[in-house]
Parts: sequence; structure tokens; C-alpha cells
Amino acid sequence: MDKIISLCKRRGFVYPASEIYGGFANAYDFGPLGSQLKKNIKDYWWKKFVIGEDNIVGLDSAIIQNPKTWEASGHLNSFTDPLVECKKCHQRFRVDHVQEVKTKMAEGGVAANAVMGSLDKLGMTKEMTSMVLCTAGGEHDFSEAREFNLMFKTFVGVTDDSSSVAYMRPETAQGIFLNFKNVIQSTRVKPPFGIAQIGKSFRNEITPGNFIFRTREFEQMEIEFFIEPNPEESKKWYEYWIEKAKEFYLELGIKSENLSIRAHDEKELSFYSIGTSDVEYKFPFGVSELGGIAQRTDYDLSQHEKVSGLDLKFFDETMGSKYLPYVVEPALGVDRAALAILTDAFDESDGSDGRAEGEITLRLNPKVAPIKVAVFPLIKKEGLPEIAREIVAKLKKSGITTYYDESGSVGRRYRRQDEIGTPWCITVDFDTLADKTATLRDRDSMTQERINIDEIVSQIEGKLR
Ligand code: GAP
Repeated sequence: MDKIISLCKRRGFVYPASEIYGGFANAYDFGPLGSQLKKNIKDYWWKKFVIGEDNIVGLDSAIIQNPKTWEASGHLNSFTDPLVECKKCHQRFRVDHVQEVKTKMAEGGVAANAVMGSLDKLGMTKEMTSMVLCTAGGEHDFSEAREFNLMFKTFVGVTDDSSSVAYMRPETAQGIFLNFKNVIQSTRVKPPFGIAQIGKSFRNEITPGNFIFRTREFEQMEIEFFIEPNPEESKKWYEYWIEKAKEFYLELGIKSENLSIRAHDEKELSFYSIGTSDVEYKFPFGVSELGGIAQRTDYDLSQHEKVSGLDLKFFDETMGSKYLPYVVEPALGVDRAALAILTDAFDESDGSDGRAEGEITLRLNPKVAPIKVAVFPLIKKEGLPEIAREIVAKLKKSGITTYYDESGSVGRRYRRQDEIGTPWCITVDFDTLADKTATLRDRDSMTQERINIDEIVSQIEGKLR
């Protein structure tokens, strides 16, 4: 993980946030390459589900909604984690996380009054270690557990009294439910159909950590898929969306052996769900959730009916009756997808495969690679830079992210591109002057072929398709 974090910082994927002010715990900024990577993931999701499917429409709702939203959705009362606080150092931890660490220690035969070295040997992360060792010395002295609401509170307008309290959304889903009636009235959709949204969500997580895996501000890609209200339909679409979610990750290039599906047991289910499965990924810190597919029944719409006093039912003209649809929800995280993609693509050489020991290649699927093509003139004179720049201009004009590089040896330029996952490099050399061909080099096979410079755009477009 440390190697991935270091590459992300060095090459401009992910920076620690507010770094010039000493940072801001567990907050991150996405740099030039990271922001493009995230955009590619979101664009692909939108293209696959909103543009690609007949029965899914898009939405972009407000982050701060009427606070009644969270009363109705149950988040005000139930979106809580049980916490313990250390009476000595006043750090707070989630009870279930402390329990996990204790189990790990018991399994590893490490005593409660552990020392740093013995925890390291168990492969514990910094976050896990901080649940064992108190910064005031010795072990923590934990309080009784108490519930802690995860929503960020804010004040809207000029007063900061209780009448102006509002919340930053903890999920994009509720904005969709609030607009259910608007969407059915303004479009011709009818169940089964989905409303899709991508956007930031905010949770005051007690134990954020593992780099961009769990942060307090993150992006979600969610679909609320509205269906006829019966358990059979719900099960059918639940299974459908589990498969579709998995397919999405595979299409982004994540290896199938690192993906798994895990159904929640009763105790684990969210307060709104009658069945949830997670798509999980084998991260360096363990197998963890990438996204979830939940059967939310008519819970949310019926709650919004109760609290708003409005009729939110769908009128089915063919049946001549109205009903509140059930909902199946595939909810995926953009940041976690980016982390899984980076982890999966990270390939450091041990020196036995033609690359130098320690050389890194990011084997990103071209769909998500931030830069698709790099163009190099062999040398900085004899008209080669001008030809290379013309190729760059043509590629950019076609919407293909392209990078021009003329510094250092061509070998070093290749390595710089391999490290950021650029699938193809084009080198303009003296033969280009004679026959209008250039070298096209493939990142993974490292093969090189000569192609006509007038065909570069169509060839790259073909490969991207
Ligand atoms: N609307 C349902 C919902 O929000 P969730 O399982 O709480 O379900 C869905 O969140 C996805 O959002 C997760 O699978 C994960 O990818 C992402 N996510 C949730 N909390 C996150 C956090 N603190 N940091 C990063 N991603 C998070």
C-alpha cells in the first residue's frame, strides 16, 4: 500500500489535502492524473448505465436538502455508529473496529498490553495500532459505547440557531427519492426504471483510513431502480444488479480473481434493507467493500410520503391502479473503484521480466488510463518536434488525452509513461521525415510497430473502442 500511496503522490494521482498547512487528517486531493482517472470511471459508469440502458435516466440533485429529508429517510435517528472514547487520550473509535482488532490480537497470540513491535508483526495498520496503544501511554481506558450520528451538520443562512440546521447528504440516494414524482411526471419512464446520480457524499466517519478507502468526503455512483412492489421482482432485479455491478468492475479492468460477492447476514443489514450484497475487492489491507446492492423495498418512498404528506405513488395506466414501487439500489463508490483499479494495475518488476528491478508499470485498462497516448520526438531538432506536436494536436482535437514529452532518452520517456499507465507511446524519428511513419509502442507487450502518421488517430480510436 505504501508504494501505491507514494506513486500516487509523486506522479500526481492523489495528494494529502491541505498539505501546506500541515495536512488535514484523512482528507485527500486528486491531482491531474487522479482527477482524470476518477472522471474516466464516472464517465464509463454514466455511459454504461444512463446512456447505454433504455430505462435509466440521470439526475444531479442538491447536496444540502430540506432537513426533513433525513428525518424521513431515518438518517437522523439511525445513521449512527456505536463509539467508545478513551478517557485518557479522548480519541474515539468504532466499537466494531476495536473488536476486530482485539480478535486479530487474540488469534495472533498477542496480549492486551501489547507493544508496537508485536503489533507490527501481525500486519496491523497505523489505524489498528492506534486502537490498541494510547497516546497518553499504556492501553486505552474506554468509556461505555454510545451512538454517534455520522451526518455533518451545517447552518443555512445568516443565523446559526437550531432553526437553520441542515445536513450534508450522507448518500446521493435520497435526492433521487425526493425527485421520484418529478421524474415520472416530466419523462415517460415507468417501472422497471432507474434514476442514476453521481456526486459527493459526506460522513463524519469515526475511523477513516486506508488511504482513500474510507474518507469523510467521497463520491458515489448510485441508481435507485424502481420496480413493481413484490419480493419476487425485488429478488430478480437484485440478482440482475449484482451481476451488472460486477460486470462494471471487470470492464474497468479489475481482475476477476480479486472480486467477490458477499451477502450481508441479518445483523449487518442497514436499517432500510431486506437484502444486501457487497461487491468486494482484495485490497492490500484485506478484502473489503467496493460497492453494495440493496433491496430497499418501498421504505424510502413510504417514509417520504408520511413526512411530506404527499402522494408519491406511481399510477399504472395499464393496471388502472397505483402503487409505491419497490427499489433495488446498486451503490458504488468512485474513490474505492479508483483505489482498486490502481492496486490491481500496480506491477513492480523483480528484474526477471525484461524490466529493471523496481521499475513500476501501471497496467491500467485504456478506458480508465488518464493519458491514452504520449508522443515523443526522437531528438529536439531537425523538424521532429514540429511533427510530434502536430500529432498531439490531432489526437487532442479528437478528444484523446495526449502528452508531449521531449526530455531525456526515449527509454526514460517510456518508463515515465509506463509508471502512470499510458497504454501507447508514439515516437517520431528520422524515418518519419522520409516515409511519414512513426513508432507505436504498446505498454504491456512492449512491441513496436510502424504506423502511418495520418492513421494514428483512427488507430488509437479503434484500440479504445
Ligand atoms: N445509498 C446506499 C449507500 O450509501 P453505502 O454502502 O453506505 O450505501 C455505498 O455506500 C458505497 O459508497 C460504498 O460501497 C463505498 O464504495 C462508498 N462509500 C461509503 N462510505 C464511504 C467512505 N467513508 N469513504 C469512501 N467511500 C465510501
